[in-house]
Amino acid sequence: MKLFEPLSRPGFQLANRIVMAPMTRSRSDAAAVVPAYAADYYGSRADGGLLITEGTGTSAMAIGYARTPGIYTEAQIDAWRGVTAAVHQRGGRIFLQLMHVGRIAHAANRTIPDPPVAPSPIRAKGQMWTDAQGMQPNDEPRALELSEIPGVIDEFAAAARNAMSAGFDGVELHAASGYLPNQFLATGSNQRSDAYGGPVANRVRFVVEALEAMITGVGSASRVGIKVSPGMQFNDIQDEDPVATHVALAQAIEPLGLAYVHVMRAGIGAENALRDAYRGTMLVGGGFSRDEAEAVIAAGRADAIVFGTAYLANPDLVSRFRKGAALNAPDKATFYTPGTKGYTDYPVLS
Ligand SMILES: Cc1cc2nc3c(=O)[nH]c(=O)nc-3n(C[C@H](O)[C@H](O)[C@H](O)COP(=O)(O)O)c2cc1C
Repeated sequence: MKLFEPLSRPGFQLANRIVMAPMTRSRSDAAAVVPAYAADYYGSRADGGLLITEGTGTSAMAIGYARTPGIYTEAQIDAWRGVTAAVHQRGGRIFLQLMHVGRIAHAANRTIPDPPVAPSPIRAKGQMWTDAQGMQPNDEPRALELSEIPGVIDEFAAAARNAMSAGFDGVELHAASGYLPNQFLATGSNQRSDAYGGPVANRVRFVVEALEAMITGVGSASRVGIKVSPGMQFNDIQDEDPVATHVALAQAIEPLGLAYVHVMRAGIGAENALRDAYRGTMLVGGGFSRDEAEAVIAAGRADAIVFGTAYLANPDLVSRFRKGAALNAPDKATFYTPGTKGYTDYPVLS
């Protein structure tokens, strides 16, 4: 099967086309440090072609959810070293997903008193979990001043450097799911009238600059990827024309020579428009079975396939796919709960 064939691009080699999706697991401590047992979780999945970590904050301001990790303090970097060592010891490859929540935040989940920042001062509809106060509405954000944007971009460069220091093989920009980079892309959340808002050429600017900063931070574009989710309305993202926005983004970033563009399918066929518009490596995810993954790769519509919940529930997903074996069902109740239950205790086939 093509799913098990290696992928070889300059500076970016995968042993197979099975990629573990970035998944927030909410097991970090109050200092945004991943637990030691995260090394078992990621290490036991190291035979995937590429593992992408849970979204990880570039700064204290970038964090908005309970118990999510960061990559901006020495303690955080050191804890991640345990994860990368476990994956590398088993011959795997792992990218760190860099995340800035922007307006998707609540004060009870933050270590700083400042309100969240966003392209425009528009509160996102919806609620999020807080350990102290249960479900709470997203906080009202304040708009980033034009003069503050270079500082936010610099945090992506610093986080990317820290990721290299922690031993990661690369970094992925989380520009999907309604977080800060996606908030800049979308017309509903970006109502700026400066160089970062208005026409699509301006709305893609933040994402392009964040990627350039990450390339500087890691020293090579072949160690940088991006995730997008055109048409996904999660976290109150509204865009007048998500396909056109993302095609313009793909054209703007093609000259950068990234490791890959990772598209989460959202039911509007944007992954096909992007495949046609973008000549680089493309990963596609969202609700794939083994057989559909094989068919999409065989048809040349993706270079590798990203698996989320199936990989979460099956540390030995690659060997189960090889054998055509049944999969464990994911337990939603433990997706975001602290501790090892539902994290490192899914059974593997003997
Ligand atoms: C528990 C959980 C946490 C997730 N956290 C993230 C995240 O941190 N970053 C991200 O880009 N996507 C996140 N996602 C979305 C997944 O990366 C993936 O796009 C989605 O699960 C669809 O793929 P699937 O149908 O194979 O699960 C998360 C999904 C789940 C189930």
